Amino acid sequence: MNKMLTEQDFIFKNNSEDIPKKGSFTWKTPSNIALVKYWGKRDPQIPENPSISFTLDACFTMTTLEFSKRETRHFELDSKSNNENLKQVQFDIYFEGDKKDDFKPKIQKFLQRIKQYVPFISNYDLVIRSRNSFPHSSGIASSASGMSALALGIMSLEKELNPNMTDDYFNKKASFLARLGSGSASRSIEGELVVWGNHNDIQGSNDLYGIKFPLTIHNNFKNYHDTILLVDKGEKQVSSTIGHNLMHKHPFAEKRFEQAHQNLSQLSTILQNGNLKGFINIVESEALTLHAMMLTSNPYFILMKPNTLSIINKIWEFRTQTNSNVCFTLDAGANVHILFPEKEKQSVHQFIETELLQFCQNNHYICDRVGFGAKQIK
Ligand code: DP6
Repeated sequence: MNKMLTEQDFIFKNNSEDIPKKGSFTWKTPSNIALVKYWGKRDPQIPENPSISFTLDACFTMTTLEFSKRETRHFELDSKSNNENLKQVQFDIYFEGDKKDDFKPKIQKFLQRIKQYVPFISNYDLVIRSRNSFPHSSGIASSASGMSALALGIMSLEKELNPNMTDDYFNKKASFLARLGSGSASRSIEGELVVWGNHNDIQGSNDLYGIKFPLTIHNNFKNYHDTILLVDKGEKQVSSTIGHNLMHKHPFAEKRFEQAHQNLSQLSTILQNGNLKGFINIVESEALTLHAMMLTSNPYFILMKPNTLSIINKIWEFRTQTNSNVCFTLDAGANVHILFPEKEKQSVHQFIETELLQFCQNNHYICDRVGFGAKQIK
C-alpha cells in the first residue's frame, strides 16, 4: 500500500494521439484542519516539517473541470520548438457562477507548475467551475479544498488516458499535484487523518504527497467534531506565502521544525491509544506555537483578535469546571476551531451556544466534523 513514489513516478509519459475530445469531471473536496502545523517551506512546495490534519466534512469545494480538445496540438508543436514552458495553459474560471479573472494568476501559476507532470492539459481548453460550501468571506482558507478539487479533476482526465491506473496511484498523484498548488491541499484528498511531510516514525510519510495516517485510530477520535467560530471574516492579514517565508530567517525556526517532529511522534501514539488529555496538550500547544512564530518573526504579526483570546479563556475555564475534553486550534487567522469528541457533543454545543457565540461576528459559526475525503460526483 505505502510504496513510496518519487517525482519521476509522477511524470505522465503516454503521448498518444487518441485522447478524449471533450467531457467534464466534478469533485467535491473537503477542507482540513491541521493538528500539527505546516509552517515553513522550500521550493518546490517542500515542507520544512511534517504535519497532520483532520479531514473535514461540511466545509468543502465543489469543482467541475470541463475540457475540450484544441484543434492544434500545442504540446507537440511546442516541445519541438522547446518552448513548452513559455506556453500558457488555456482556461477560464467561474466561481459561484461568475467569471473570475482575478483568480486566474494563482491558477495559471499552478497549472504551469504541474504541466511537466500532466502535459496533456496543454491539449485542451479548460473551464473550471467552482463553489464553496462555506461563505467566501468567512476567513476560512479555500486553497486546500480548491486546489485539491482541481488536482482531482485533472487526475480524472489522466485516468481516461491511462485507465489501468490504480486508486493508490490516483490518490498519491492527486495529492502530489494539489501540493504544488497549496501545501495544505495535499492533505485534502483522503480522510480521516492525513500526514504530509517526511517523519521517521510514520511509514510511507514523505514530502511529496500526503498519506492516510497508516495506524489504527482509537475510537475516541472517530467522528471528532470541529465547530468553527467565525471571529473575523475579513481577508487574511498575512498571505500564506508571506507567512511561510517568515520562517526563512526566523531565529527559532530550527527548534520549531524539530518540535513538530516530536509533537507528531507523540500525537501518533495518542491517536492510537485514545489519550484525550494528551491530544489537547499537543493540539493547543501547536496552535499557539504557530501564532508565536508570527509574533516573533520580523516583520511581526498578531493574527488573533481580542475575541480569539476570550474564546480560549472560556474554553480553559469550562475545562477546569467540567473536566470536558473540548480544546481549540487556530489557523493563520483569528477564527477558532473548537475540537471535541462525539460523546461530548451535547454539552459542548450547549457551551458554545451560551458562552462562545457572543464572540463570533454576527453569531456565525460552522458545525463540522471529521470526514472521509474527496468524492467524485457522477
Ligand atoms: C497555518 O497550505 O495555505 O494552515 O503552501 O503557501 O498554499 P501554501 O500554504 P498553506 O499553509 C497552511 C498553513 C496553516 C497550517 C496547516 O494547514 O498546516
